[in-house]
Amino acid sequence: MTVDEIFELVKGDLEQVEQEFGRQVASPIETISSIGSYLQQSGGKRLRPALLLLCARLCGSNGNLSSIRLGAVVEFIHTATLVHDDIIDGADLRRGRASANSKWGNQTCVLTGDWLYMQSYAMALGERNFRVLEILTEVTQKMVEGELIQLHWLGRSDIDEDSYYDIASRKTSYLFAACGRLGAVLGGRPARDEETMGEFGRLLGLAFQVVDDLLDFTSNEKVLGKPVLSDLKEGKVTLPLIYALAKSTDRERAVVEGVLSNREMDESHRKQVLDLVRKYDTLPMVRHKALELAQEARKRLATFPDSTYKQALTEMTHLVVDRDH
Ligand code: IPE
Ligand code: IPE
Ligand code: MG
Ligand code: MG
Repeated sequence: MTVDEIFELVKGDLEQVEQEFGRQVASPIETISSIGSYLQQSGGKRLRPALLLLCARLCGSNGNLSSIRLGAVVEFIHTATLVHDDIIDGADLRRGRASANSKWGNQTCVLTGDWLYMQSYAMALGERNFRVLEILTEVTQKMVEGELIQLHWLGRSDIDEDSYYDIASRKTSYLFAACGRLGAVLGGRPARDEETMGEFGRLLGLAFQVVDDLLDFTSNEKVLGKPVLSDLKEGKVTLPLIYALAKSTDRERAVVEGVLSNREMDESHRKQVLDLVRKYDTLPMVRHKALELAQEARKRLATFPDSTYKQALTEMTHLVVDRDH
């Protein structure tokens, strides 16, 4: 199954999610509707709503209005976190064009991010379902905590693997987990299945974030839509460098620490950092880690009967590792 074939399965639903997204950002406050449609039109893979819809279908939901609404809710939450994340990271580029903060400034974008969060809750309230609200409240707190914990480690070369995974889980995999859980809720499944779908999403999301950090080393700006080798410049030491630093000499560590404290990376620094991950061959190690996580995710699907939706979700576990953007 190709990416297109996976998305084709929920194409109609995704189109409705897109319409709902558009309706929900259409605020009478001009700034909100401008930024909202700018964000919507900048694209994005729509992976989270696709995941939610596929999980819902796997769990027996028939693509009703609730699944459309919750698909839009998870994309709203994702959008809000990106708006805030780009402010925090001082990022100028997102999805191949100017980030919202570089266009409208930090003050406006902090508030717009807040508005997007609250609008997503207003939408979710329409479900009149406390379990849905519990899932969404928990995930939003976890994501904010992830950014806070990341701030604690910012600029530090001594971050350990467990802390890295803690941050990655909170920043990314809990929202994927929520998509799985909500899919089970939409299908009216018992708590046991919700748990399983949540685990599936969590592992898939963790693989996704590990690969995001890998792509920062291996991809290019044109394909990725955001600058590469930027994590270190932003003060973040991620898995490829955590592995390399465990073996590096004092001089090599000093190069990394230099970039972390100056938040600048000239050509010579770029080369030295790339040489470091090459010398210790850590990129294949990171890819291997992502493959393991994806495989663990696949195992969670075992209890569900075979269907095209199960096939698509299985394929998605391969896709998140093999993607180029
Ligand atoms: C970007 O997520 C943020 C991370 C969790 C790494 P995506 O790569 O899914 O972003 P879009 O929506 O496709 O732009
Ligand atoms: C992931 O953090 C963004 C969130 C889920 C909040 P990153 O800072 O690693 O994401 P990118 O690289 O900016 O997309
Ligand atoms: Mg960022
Ligand atoms: Mg990143």
